[in-house]
Amino acid sequence: MLFSASALLAAAAFVGEVAAHGYVPFIRINGTTLPGWDVTKDGYANPQPLRIVRATKADSGFVSNPSSGEITCSIGNSKLPPGPITAAVAAGGTVTAVWNTWPVGHYGPIIDYIAKCPASGCSSWKADSGSPWIKIGQKAYDGEWASDKLAKGGFTHDIKIPRNLASGDYLIRHEQLALHGASSPGGAQFYPVCIQITVTGGGSLVPQGNLNFPGAYSANDRGILFNPYQGDAANRAYVPPGGPVYSGLQF
Ligand SMILES: *[C@@H]1O[C@H](CO)[C@@H](O)[C@H](O)[C@H]1NC(C)=O
Repeated sequence: MLFSASALLAAAAFVGEVAAHGYVPFIRINGTTLPGWDVTKDGYANPQPLRIVRATKADSGFVSNPSSGEITCSIGNSKLPPGPITAAVAAGGTVTAVWNTWPVGHYGPIIDYIAKCPASGCSSWKADSGSPWIKIGQKAYDGEWASDKLAKGGFTHDIKIPRNLASGDYLIRHEQLALHGASSPGGAQFYPVCIQITVTGGGSLVPQGNLNFPGAYSANDRGILFNPYQGDAANRAYVPPGGPVYSGLQF
């Protein structure tokens, strides 16, 4: 049993806070909506439901230390067992993350990574060692922050799966990085979300992972310690953390 009655009551007291942050209760693939991880319900169900979005602790707060173990797949990822299921998506297809909410003004980029799960599958794999990750996409500022576009556009973000990616089981690490407090050290807010997928009909690209979480980010990276209130020119010069998108991906 993962949650006691007292934990339930304590969590109920924080419902207001939960509503203030974002999480991903739904995933959309091929026009079909699948359950993601609903922090208000799924952690309290017994047995815990199997979800393609990895469990997080029963709040939707952010990770503030980019070197912590929670940076991989969010708060509590290291404690709660992920569900042994994946969602099938064709190579070249789209996985849409549907956030419950996101405030306009929580400025920042949206960054997507992927890691090939080991032969034993995604379900018991923490993906936090051996640099398994590559960056497959990122959106930052082009006159408007990616986060504001999401907040004004139905809270959705499309994750494009490269069409030349080899078939198999993968973990997506989809992340919003809120910079509204990031002009002081430790002020950036990370909202990583891990999604378990099976890529079908893929190509020949077996990516050599080149990033580890934790490890890829540090608190003083120029994309993490950043003041988003310096105006348009400075925001256009913003470079998200985690390096460039992996080369050789075809979309
Ligand atoms: C999406 O479409 C692909 C290609 O037709 C299929 O393999 C996959 O099972 C579908 N996934 C879902 C979740 O419907």
